[in-house]
Amino acid sequence: MCGIVGYIGKKDAENTLIEGLKRLEYRGYDSSGIALVQNKKMFSEKAIGKIINLEEKLSGKKFSGNVGICHTRWATHGKPTKENAHPHFSCDGDIAVVHNGIIENYQTLRDDLKKKGHKFLSETDSEVLPHLIEDFYKGDLREAVLKALKCVQGTYGIAVVSSKNPDEMIAARKGSPLVLGVGNGENFVASDVAAILGYTNQVVYLNDGEIARVASDDFQITDMDNQQIKCEINKIEWSLEESQKGGHEHFMLKEILEQPKVVVDSTRGRLLPDEGSVKLGGLEEVEEDLRKIEKIIIVACGTARYAGLVGEYMLEEYAEIPTEVEFASEFRYRKPIVDERTAIIAISQSGETADTLAAIREAKRKGALTLGIVNVVGSTIARETDAGVYNHAGPEIAVASTKAFTSQLTVLALITILLGRQRNMSLDTGKKIIEELEALPEKIEIILKNKVDIKKLSEKYSKYSDFMYLGRKYCFPLAEEGALKLKEISYIHSEGFPAGEMKHGSIALIDEDFPVVCVAPKDSVYEKNISNVEEIRARKGKIIILTTQGNKEAEKVADDIIYIPDALEMLTPILAVVPLQLFAYYVSSFRGLDVDKPRNLAKSVTVE
Ligand code: M6R
Repeated sequence: MCGIVGYIGKKDAENTLIEGLKRLEYRGYDSSGIALVQNKKMFSEKAIGKIINLEEKLSGKKFSGNVGICHTRWATHGKPTKENAHPHFSCDGDIAVVHNGIIENYQTLRDDLKKKGHKFLSETDSEVLPHLIEDFYKGDLREAVLKALKCVQGTYGIAVVSSKNPDEMIAARKGSPLVLGVGNGENFVASDVAAILGYTNQVVYLNDGEIARVASDDFQITDMDNQQIKCEINKIEWSLEESQKGGHEHFMLKEILEQPKVVVDSTRGRLLPDEGSVKLGGLEEVEEDLRKIEKIIIVACGTARYAGLVGEYMLEEYAEIPTEVEFASEFRYRKPIVDERTAIIAISQSGETADTLAAIREAKRKGALTLGIVNVVGSTIARETDAGVYNHAGPEIAVASTKAFTSQLTVLALITILLGRQRNMSLDTGKKIIEELEALPEKIEIILKNKVDIKKLSEKYSKYSDFMYLGRKYCFPLAEEGALKLKEISYIHSEGFPAGEMKHGSIALIDEDFPVVCVAPKDSVYEKNISNVEEIRARKGKIIILTTQGNKEAEKVADDIIYIPDALEMLTPILAVVPLQLFAYYVSSFRGLDVDKPRNLAKSVTVE
């Protein structure tokens, strides 16, 4: 959450910083700010709300600078006000800091600094940083930052500039992602590569406990004990174009429409049809360990967790490995029974979700094998897990996760084949799943071609204020995902759960103003789903049934129908989720809401 961009070079930093910041706006957008250094003077501006407000404030201003930092905020400590927006400054205004993360001991530090005479202007935890740095500053900015960070408990990704040291920018990381962008005569710091992709594709990922001194022509990285770190320059394969809207009104729609390609990309070079198996390069090193595992625990949050729930059904049915799915946020507070025969699979689009990361660390401590299903290459979870599989879904910008979910399901199917074929899965079954996987992109295209029908349906239902989503077996997690998608971008109250649970309480909510979406493809639990639909009909609830093409009998019990092509039961969620995403997207659009940046949310949740 929150976004950081820093620049040092020969250009006017302002435009580069603002352009970069706009690409990070999806990570947090309740206020923003910038600090620029020129001629040993510090200039700054801040604004509440979206980055466009900051841009407006900057237009016509006469200052410029070749070094600067900026920030877009998602509030944790303190309201989204101008005072609380970053950068924060030292008392003399010479040191500016942007910070992602949480300083846990900020209250004690603040009280101590106040006693020494420091004046605080905001309610944030972050503001202790410039004051601490000021306290230690004796001419060497890096040294002062290092000393300040040694006093701090909590997490941080920071960028620091000082008008007294105009030829450098300091960056440091512990628990909040930060990358250095290596350019030609210019260098960058960012919390997310998306911010700097337009300028360079050469990056160095900072690790926890590392601090960088960045100048326009070079940079040095050390650890907290001042030991020089030898770093690797990585090449980013995503293009700037891929991280832009490409003519679509919203990122979310673009990302929904990309899903046929996403399934192709997630499976590319990984299918071995003749062997009824798969080749997952990222798991090769641990293939022998995987043969020995007796239990899998999937840890994830939000949409990624719903993908994990589908994975649970896949892994138990086809790989015959007992599998549990945990809220990553709860994992370390329970007493999970984990040993060296347990594999933990962390699923995360961003690879930076704090709770998922903490769950992996806890599992590692207990000796489990940790695997990642991660989209963002080089992200913390990708680096901290023992092995893993990348999604290859390309950058996902809309806060509501769509294509990452389909790619997570696709990768879970691949892992199921791999583990299944190591155990009892027959050649024919392996071949069948692969054949069905290969057929998915075309089937998703068929659903997308009918998006106008879903748009019409969304208009009809956009006025309702409550929704229930139901499903069973492989489609039960889809009920939860459909409800989450709707609520997070349309602010409509919606709940999703296994269809059989409805009569244990929630059925009391049903009346003619409470539409129910039942995800009921013609699968092994179809009849059971229809029994639940009848119970809703008896209470006059409106019913939308999502079912398999050609299933005319569903029309008799539904007010509205959405059809999807037939597929292997375990892969049906990859098709069924698409209309649910489109439905949420269009409802939000009809309500005139900011689809890509829903209120109160941020794309990547890097705080606990
Ligand atoms: O980056 P991650 O996949 O770890 O993120 C997990 C959740 O925060 C995320 O899926 C969230 O639920 C989405 N906004 C849902 O659309």
